[in-house]
Amino acid sequence: MDVYLDNLTMEFEDITAVNRLSTTIKDGELVSLLGPSGCGKSTTLMLLAGLYKPTSGDIYFGEKNVTKLDAEKREIGMVFQNYALYPHLSVLKNIMFPLRMQKVPKKEAKERAIEMANLVQIGHLVDRKPGQLSGGQQQRVAIARALVKKPKLLLLDEPLSNLDARLRLEMREEIRRIQQEVGITAIFVTHDQEEALSISDRVMLMKGGLLQQDSAPQEMYRKPINSFTAAFLGNPPINFLQIKKTEKPRTFELMNSSQIVKIPVNHEKERIQLGLRPENLYVTNKEDAFITGEVIHLETIGRDTLIRVQIGEVTIRALIDPSIDINVGDQCHLGINQEYIHYFDVENGANLERGNSNDGQADMEQYA
Ligand SMILES: Nc1ncnc2c1ncn2[C@@H]1O[C@H](COP(=O)(O)OP(=O)(O)OP(=O)(O)O)[C@@H](O)[C@H]1O
Ligand SMILES: [Mg+2]
Repeated sequence: MDVYLDNLTMEFEDITAVNRLSTTIKDGELVSLLGPSGCGKSTTLMLLAGLYKPTSGDIYFGEKNVTKLDAEKREIGMVFQNYALYPHLSVLKNIMFPLRMQKVPKKEAKERAIEMANLVQIGHLVDRKPGQLSGGQQQRVAIARALVKKPKLLLLDEPLSNLDARLRLEMREEIRRIQQEVGITAIFVTHDQEEALSISDRVMLMKGGLLQQDSAPQEMYRKPINSFTAAFLGNPPINFLQIKKTEKPRTFELMNSSQIVKIPVNHEKERIQLGLRPENLYVTNKEDAFITGEVIHLETIGRDTLIRVQIGEVTIRALIDPSIDINVGDQCHLGINQEYIHYFDVENGANLERGNSNDGQADMEQYA
């Protein structure tokens, strides 16, 4: 079932939690709602679920306008961070619960619950109480319970937040598998960019109730619409450096350092915010250098070495080949492939190379 949001707005007393949100979520798609705390993710889910009624705007499930439809008539499955299982009921009875509420006969309810338990791979645990399960297993029960009524839409609000790092990784793959196996349209709320990028068909990044960018994960990563998006995605985060124009074409001076940088394009702006991702920088020689600084910190993280390099008054991070012999205190020339340099407007953060893209709806002033 396609889900269509048309200028959806939710105002609480003094705050616009969701601001003119428009998008289409296609049948069978898994879309992540991503953004910092308080950006309106849960409110958007509550609106979709019918637990809140919007101040203005409309929600369509397929052709049908459901804006005024009560929650229980929307055919939605929901999964929350805290599982919300009934502690005194067995796993099986927890999963059967929504069906029993619907007066589905016990035998049929039991069969369907077992089918769901097998789908989420807890078929062997159905006689236990939730308290006798691990966090990951409890979350599987919650997913089975959400799916047992065969909802048209699955809403997940930070379902993995209570799990440790390893289990999170495993469970996010599981959620993707289950969602694809069932073929259900799903909206997955998270504030973890890696989680969003890894499992979704599409990511919607919000800030202050406004949709910033709505695109496929790789597109969002490679072509951030603004500096907020660029900074929100990626770990370690993107480096920003401000540069100002000199007399010579394509030649700029780093702010807070007299260093000269040459950029491949001729931007008209007096000042530009450069965005350089740590993994796109590499150690090179003086001739090939894009920028130069002093190594002030060095650590090995997994496959890479992370260095911090002082350039004038700013420090930047680079992920470099661990076989390179470099030490704290060394002068370091960093190169970057030109296609990886991002250019942002200093005033409003807009990506200067994206023009008037229509995959975000925020006004330029609003995400400065
Ligand atoms: N019932 C409410 N009454 C008043 N304000 C609310 C209510 N629910 C949410 N808000 C406000 O709306 C904004 C969006 O809240 P929301 O819960 O949607 O954020 P979120 O993106 O889910 O954040 P988090 O990542 O912390 O869960 C916040 O500023 C919040 O304080
Ligand atoms: Mg929330």
